[in-house]
Formats: sequence, structure tokens, C-alpha cells
Amino acid sequence: MLCRQRIGVREGTPGMTTDEMPADITEDTVTDAVVASFAGTADPRLRECLSVLTRHLHAAVRELEPTLAEWDAALAFLTATGQKCDATRQEFVLLSDVLGVSALVENLNHRTSAGATEATVLGPFHLTESPRRELGDTIDELGHGESCVVTGHVRSVDGTPLTGATVDVWQATEDGFYDVQQPGVQPPGNGRGLFTTDDEGRFWFRTVVPAHYPIPVDGPVGTLLAGTGRGPYRPAHVHFIAAAEGHTPVTTHIFVAGSPYLDADAVFAVKRSLVREFAPVDDAAAAERYGVVNPFRHADVDLVLEAG
Ligand code: BEZ
Ligand code: FE
Repeated sequence: MLCRQRIGVREGTPGMTTDEMPADITEDTVTDAVVASFAGTADPRLRECLSVLTRHLHAAVRELEPTLAEWDAALAFLTATGQKCDATRQEFVLLSDVLGVSALVENLNHRTSAGATEATVLGPFHLTESPRRELGDTIDELGHGESCVVTGHVRSVDGTPLTGATVDVWQATEDGFYDVQQPGVQPPGNGRGLFTTDDEGRFWFRTVVPAHYPIPVDGPVGTLLAGTGRGPYRPAHVHFIAAAEGHTPVTTHIFVAGSPYLDADAVFAVKRSLVREFAPVDDAAAAERYGVVNPFRHADVDLVLEAG
């Protein structure tokens, strides 16, 4: 049971008689009263956000008419979500993801022109510092899993290759875990790399074919998914953030064609344009050139950025 403590309640004007007091706040007037309370907010965008959120939240409460026990349960859920967060676990990002809010915000902010790579969610496993690696390096430091080469270009929408663009990559292992989920099993930085395109805008690296995986379900978000009969799985994918001077960066994935859950992603992030073949290659000379064992798999991806 939550402790219902009244905090920050403003005092009435001292010495006011009941006749002089303003009318009671009722269920019909409370929304306008709260919105009016934000009138003095100096930042107009903050005022707008607080007002819109208040109106929509109150509308939901009016429609649902929660019991006090239900409202306590909602607050307990949000409290547990906050308490689950630490330096490597971001349960609020996960909540935003499974509610489709991350995908919606990403889509609203990237109404890209035709030809530019579509954006999709960042997810909770991006680290601000991926290890810098040379073109052709492997991001897989474990050495099991199916060898794979990823090649591509970073280009501007007009087709110009972008030299010196950064390509930040991160992915789960062939068992479906990120390094931060398996400390002591995976070395920090496994499955991650920060590359810089060459003078033809090219990048290439070695890795293993990632697997589909469940998002973490040992917290309140997992309880929400289980309680609603929803699955936790994401289709196999590799994450990218591509950035180049004079261009808008893109945060995206490539999805492995044929992966399970392409049609049932727990976080609503799949776009057809981002699905790529990870084609089997049996070519000893190519394997030697890339430094992988033959046969191997190969995915090619162009990351196309909008100028501006
Ligand atoms: C991910 O792809 O890393 C991810 C995205 C959303 C929720 C959990 C994981
Ligand atoms: Fe992922």
C-alpha cells in the first residue's frame, strides 16, 4: 500500500473567511484549475507540455474512473519501474518501447524524404561509447556463432558517398544477449563498434549473425507483457547510428530476413525497408579477403542520410 502523503499543497490566504474563499474545486473544474496553475511557467513549451499532459491524463481518469486501489496499483507499477532502473538497466525506456511510444516519437521526428534510410527505435542497450574499431575488424570477441560480414556505404540522398562518416554498431550475440546483460560472460564492448567510412564512403566489419531475443522480462514491463498475453520477442537485428557532417544522423536497425518475429516485434519497430538478406556465401577467396572462415554470411546495407 502506498503512503498517501500530501506534499506541496499551497496554503490559503491567511485571515480569509469562508464567504471570501473561492468556489470549491470540483471534478468539473479541477482540470482547468491545474492547467491555469501552469500559467506562470516561463518556458512556453514546458507550459504547453504540462497543460496537454494534464488534459489527457484527466480525460483518461474520467473515462476509466479508477478505484483508489487501482490508482495505488498504477502508482506502485510506476514506482517499481523507476526502482528497476540503474546504470545499465532502463526500465522506463523499455516501458516506452512496449507501449509503442518510442516508435511513435522516432517516426514523428524522422519524416524522411524518399530515399533516406528510415529510422527506428534506439532501445535501451546503446552505450554512449562504442569501442573504436578499424574497418574490417570484428565486433565479435567471443568467436562462436555463424561468421558474418556486413558491408555498406554511407551516402547522402543524392547518392554522394560520405567520407569520414561514423557508423556506430551494436548487436546481441547468436544467443540473443547484449554484453551489458552478461557481465563476466561477455567482455565489455562485445558486439559493439564505432567505425569511420573510408574515402569512398564504405564501411565493413566482421561479426556473427545475431539471433532474435526477448526483451528483459524480469521487471515491471515483463509483468505487463505477461499480464496482457503479449510476447517479449524482437526479431534478429543489428543496430546502427550513422552520422556525417552536414547531414541529419539516423538511428536505425537492419533486420535479418526470415527471422522469427518480423511480424510481431514487441516494440513495434520493424519497417520493411530495413529488412536485409544475410546471404550464405561459399567463396574461399572472399572469406580470406574478409578474414572469416568459409562459408559465411553476408549482409549489405547502404545508410542514406538527409542533408541538413
Ligand atoms: C533493442 O533492440 O536493443 C531493444 C529495443 C527495445 C527494447 C528492448 C531492446
Ligand atoms: Fe536490439
